[in-house]
Amino acid sequence: MTKKFRAYTLNEFIVRQQNAFPYATGDLTRLLGHIGIASKIVNREVNMAGLVDILGETGTENIQGESVKKLDAFANDQFKSILGSSIEVCGLVTEEEKDLVSFESDLSREGKYIVCMDPLDGSSNIDVNVSIGTIFSIYRRISEIGSASVEKDFLQPGTKQVAAGYVLYGSSTMLVYTTGMGVTGFTLDPSIGEFFLSHAKIVMPAEGRFYSINEGNYINFPQGVKQYIKYCQVDDPSTNRPYTSRYVGSLVADFHRNMLKGGIYIYPETTSMPEGKLRLTYECNPIAFLAEQSGGIATNGRGRRILEIPPESIHQRTPFFTGSPKMMKQAEDFMQLYA
Ligand code: AHG
Ligand code: MN
Ligand code: MN
Repeated sequence: MTKKFRAYTLNEFIVRQQNAFPYATGDLTRLLGHIGIASKIVNREVNMAGLVDILGETGTENIQGESVKKLDAFANDQFKSILGSSIEVCGLVTEEEKDLVSFESDLSREGKYIVCMDPLDGSSNIDVNVSIGTIFSIYRRISEIGSASVEKDFLQPGTKQVAAGYVLYGSSTMLVYTTGMGVTGFTLDPSIGEFFLSHAKIVMPAEGRFYSINEGNYINFPQGVKQYIKYCQVDDPSTNRPYTSRYVGSLVADFHRNMLKGGIYIYPETTSMPEGKLRLTYECNPIAFLAEQSGGIATNGRGRRILEIPPESIHQRTPFFTGSPKMMKQAEDFMQLYA
């Protein structure tokens, strides 16, 4: 007999999950739904990116006479416009804008959530048809409902996240998110434009074989990272070494692989970037929330849990280590040993 199964859409799943909370108002459900819609629009443009040369260069006009935007600017505008017209959201911090964006309509001021996002992550991969992503993080505002959102709303530690996730524009398009009850993944069926539940409860393996780091920066790495890389490369079948190096250069894609298969992602501080490269509020915190919710760990490589770092500015950077718990322990041990 053929096994019958029920195909849950993203929206059905979110509604069911939120219904478990007796006091849920539906605001978060709607907000996650808006993110899903914006991501489908960005996905359409991502899929068309290779045709830009035929249909119009970026920065020029397309055949409809509209100007063709760079994809990261397009993604930013798309999320900003959808979130700006969502009554649940009062403000946004995005990698693409220096200042926070406060949505000031009367309805937006009533919104109880703020969003931090990297609208297009891995942008150096756009032109070469390699996986890219969108990262988002949702907090409850701490300023008074009815007023404009202010900086302190966006400077909450990652432990205060209500939800976080990413969209991976890869060989399939996936939306992966958490509201603090585990990590769930949905895959887009492009023929009907709907996300379906495909990964019910993602658990990161306790250890793995993938290590992801830009080794081109090797000579500028801290000693602990250099030693850890050497450890990864040692031939020792009893510990599954040597590990396998995989680095896409899109955090979303590198993290996604490591979460599913087991691995570690490292973007440490370097001599030229003493705070590392990645941004705390819209890259590291959301990924750290997903990492922990799937059973992994995320630190700054110096024993500090990413989610507990109080942000001092909205575009703050931090060294970032995340992955399978056993691999993280090993990497942290090297960092301590060679501090
Ligand atoms: P973005 O495209 O949003 O600026 O982010 C790129 C980030 C991250 O996705 C990736 O892992 C890292 O930068 C790659 O940096 P390097 O090219 O220095 O390795
Ligand atoms: Mn990024
Ligand atoms: Mn980006």
